Amino acid sequence: MTTRLLLSAVALAATSGVAFADAHSCTFEAEVADFTQDQIDALYECVRDDLPAAYGAGDNEVAATYREWQAASTGPAAPGFHGGRFLNTFVNEVGYAEYIRYEEDDEAFEMPVGSVIAKESYTLRDGAPRIGPLFIMTRGETAEYPETDGWIYSAVQPNGDPMGISQSFCHDCHGGFAFGDSLGYPALEVRLGQ
Ligand code: HEC
Repeated sequence: MTTRLLLSAVALAATSGVAFADAHSCTFEAEVADFTQDQIDALYECVRDDLPAAYGAGDNEVAATYREWQAASTGPAAPGFHGGRFLNTFVNEVGYAEYIRYEEDDEAFEMPVGSVIAKESYTLRDGAPRIGPLFIMTRGETAEYPETDGWIYSAVQPNGDPMGISQSFCHDCHGGFAFGDSLGYPALEVRLGQ
């Protein structure tokens, strides 16, 4: 009985009131799963400046420059892959035009060698934004990196340090996107020109 009462109180608290108490305090009451695009965008405003500052605290070259590149979507979408995090992707000049074709139906499609893709990630923990890793994919020659179809995966921790990752862990999933040169692409609702 007590548990039941408690549960309904929690349910009430979750559904009542405004979704985020105060845009400046950056605390959010809604569950991530229930976020509207407006809430997703408001949360991004909270972390927009913190993300490059966090990743850039070390000496990673991509972390230091990716915000000079163009964004590959209208903004973050509702969380899905990559640990349920919010994601926002930037592509360097070498690969940008090809990336935003979002090709996923051509086995012969290849991103230009030298393309670099950086993807910010963050979540909401206890109602407050929490920065996740910066995920990076760099396109090399397919013949040089045959096991990952030409890609080199890396990641930077939220403190700027390199993150230890396994090429096969990343590529076991990305390699499944075989008709788009191993790219997963942003969610449909945030793709440019849709
Ligand atoms: C379980 C599947 C899965 C695994 C494992 C995975 N990814 Fe991804 N990745 C995706 C999907 C799906 C997307 C597109 C999601 C989005 O941007 O909304 C994506 C997007 C990316 C992008 C943006 C380029 C693109 O594909 O559109 C980068 C960079 C990236 N991942 C890096 C990594 C790195 C580095 C690792 C390993 C640490 C990794 N990923 C592991 C599924 C995965």
